Amino acid sequence: MSLRGARCAVRRTAGHGIVALGQRTPPRRVVRHASRVDTLAVRVARPDDYGAIAAVADDWWGRPVSRALPRLFLDHFHGSSRVVEDDHGLAAFLIAFRSPSRPDVGYIHFVGVRPDHRGTGLARSLYQDFFRRALTEGCREVEAITAPSNAGSIAFHRSLGFTVNGPVPDYDGPGRPMMTFRRALANST
Ligand SMILES: CC(C)(COP(=O)(O)OP(=O)(O)OC[C@H]1O[C@@H](n2cnc3c(N)ncnc32)[C@H](O)[C@@H]1OP(=O)(O)O)[C@@H](O)C(=O)NCCC(=O)NCCS
Repeated sequence: MSLRGARCAVRRTAGHGIVALGQRTPPRRVVRHASRVDTLAVRVARPDDYGAIAAVADDWWGRPVSRALPRLFLDHFHGSSRVVEDDHGLAAFLIAFRSPSRPDVGYIHFVGVRPDHRGTGLARSLYQDFFRRALTEGCREVEAITAPSNAGSIAFHRSLGFTVNGPVPDYDGPGRPMMTFRRALANST
């Protein structure tokens, strides 16, 4: 299964959107915070990213979530997933793949942005990059889920144009409801 797509080569200055730089340019983007400037490097994930991601997930989510992100996602879906790094290490990640059983569907399992990079459009750009790659691979829609308590994730997905459904009772087993998200992909995505 492949959903590798092009390297995500982007440059972003705060408030000025994202500029594609082409595949040969090193994948970097610059984000200006109030007190500093960070250069972000976006790259295809690798299996050995698992440790760094697992180490921050609970902290970034503010609750225990790492059990929902076992190593298999990096071992088997790293080619379609992305990691963003800055001078301080891991800045964001996207775990996503084309459904092996429903090839017209792209599925985003986890997206996480380090708290000091939130609100700069980083997750949006990771999603939009995945939308483009999924569309190229023949997907017609993208799906995701989140816990009903994750108001930030629900607002984020609404903002990205997802239809929100739920809480769906017992979605992940007895007593484990989930919100489900679905978004059609179009050539204008
Ligand atoms: C949810 C999360 C990924 C958003 O990342 P981000 O880089 O800050 O999001 P962006 O800056 O790209 O925001 C894109 C849009 O979503 C909205 N949004 C993002 N987080 C939001 C929040 N907590 N509440 C309300 N709206 C939010 C933004 O306002 C923006 O909308 P706009 O473009 O219409 O103004 C980030 O807060 C995070 O890592 N949270 C913890 C992990 C998590 O819950 N992941 C999602 C479930 S897998």
